Amino acid sequence: MDRHYNKGNFNSRSHQSHLSQERPSSKRHHEYDRGNEMHARRARPSECLSPSQTLSVSRQFYDRDFPVYKQPVEIGYFSLDSKRNFWNDARQLRYYVEPERCPNFNLRDGYHDRFVKRDDGIKEKLDHILKWILANKHKLQSRDAICPLGIDFVTWRGHLTKLLTTPYETQDGWLLAVSRLAGTFYISEVETEKARRDRENRTERHEEMMYWGYKFEQYTCADDAQGSPDSGGVVNTNEAFCTVVQTRLSEHKLLFSGEVDCREASSCAPAAPACYIEMKTSAEIHTPKQRSNFHRYKLLKWWAQSFLPGVPKIVAGFRDSDGQVVQVETFKTSQISQLIKTEYNCWKPTVCMNFCSDFLSFVKKTVKEDDPKLVYLFSWEPHKDVTFTTHRDSEYTFLPNWFVKEITGLHRETNAPPRA
Ligand code: A3P
Ligand code: MG
Repeated sequence: MDRHYNKGNFNSRSHQSHLSQERPSSKRHHEYDRGNEMHARRARPSECLSPSQTLSVSRQFYDRDFPVYKQPVEIGYFSLDSKRNFWNDARQLRYYVEPERCPNFNLRDGYHDRFVKRDDGIKEKLDHILKWILANKHKLQSRDAICPLGIDFVTWRGHLTKLLTTPYETQDGWLLAVSRLAGTFYISEVETEKARRDRENRTERHEEMMYWGYKFEQYTCADDAQGSPDSGGVVNTNEAFCTVVQTRLSEHKLLFSGEVDCREASSCAPAAPACYIEMKTSAEIHTPKQRSNFHRYKLLKWWAQSFLPGVPKIVAGFRDSDGQVVQVETFKTSQISQLIKTEYNCWKPTVCMNFCSDFLSFVKKTVKEDDPKLVYLFSWEPHKDVTFTTHRDSEYTFLPNWFVKEITGLHRETNAPPRA
């Protein structure tokens, strides 16, 4: 594994150019790790972190053969109701109702009087996925004494989307907390200072535009397979239906969950996740420059989000600046990479997937201690390498006791000698 990792990142082409220039910031995030402190003490001012402690994000290192990515399999789902309560069922799943090509939906309707917004200041971390794991552990248990769940990584699809788009991201960095428990690595996002500032200082216009995406879903989704959308109802962004999928990226066995907007209504539709549909809104396109930006930036995010869980179809509502949907267009996830090939120096799916795979290898290589109270905080800022700091019993600990207790019990059972 190490050889593969080094080959991709550190030993090829310009070895010097992707060594880290900086130590991970220890000002913002308290460092408790002795190893890092010793390294800091040893380091002379001009010295770099050893290359094995950083990961380059330069696209050139990831532009190689597409890695193995197994067809994602849905192993379960769950719902979150209007109060954000977890249900181990599909009660929030909605059904797609195809709109007209030029539907003139008014996305502003209901913003002031029929909108219940989820409190995005409340950080739920991985809690819903962990609840799903405990309710469905019979589906996961492996015979592996080291790793009773038989999974390397548990995370949200959205965190993986951020990893996929990292080689092309120039605005927003990320912080990903990782803990290892009974052989499985759990990855949970931590809000960056910039993201918190942006969230707390959104303009009223931005707040309203965030509603538009949900309103479009309401215009195109029904609660029942034979039903019709109810555009006069309340939009409540606490409600969610989430698929739980299992797959493998290179040698990494993944379990992740992601919100699904709706499914095909026909009973002849293929099994999940192939029947799922992602709904999107975007500003209408008038000029070649706008089309180019749409291909370069929007389609990258849309592709990454839907490719990961194997969602084959994206229905886009193009809207004017007043929130009127003027055109609806369907994109096949599998054809997006063809669509963007006309753009000069555009993003490449292989770069996204290889970076994600190498990041997961980097995590496995770095997170050696199996301890739910120990968090390795991986940090990335645009134009820099990925670095990490470690934190024991800190504000970053994210695996709750109720989960640790159950999983540790499982671990003991798997490791117990067979009964006579
Ligand atoms: P659009 O994607 O149509 O803009 P999703 O598309 O992932 O199902 O999310 C539904 C809507 O939530 C989005 O609709 C957008 O309005 C809002 N949303 C999701 N992620 C967001 C983000 N990072 N910033 C702002 N709004 C977001
Ligand atoms: Mg959507």
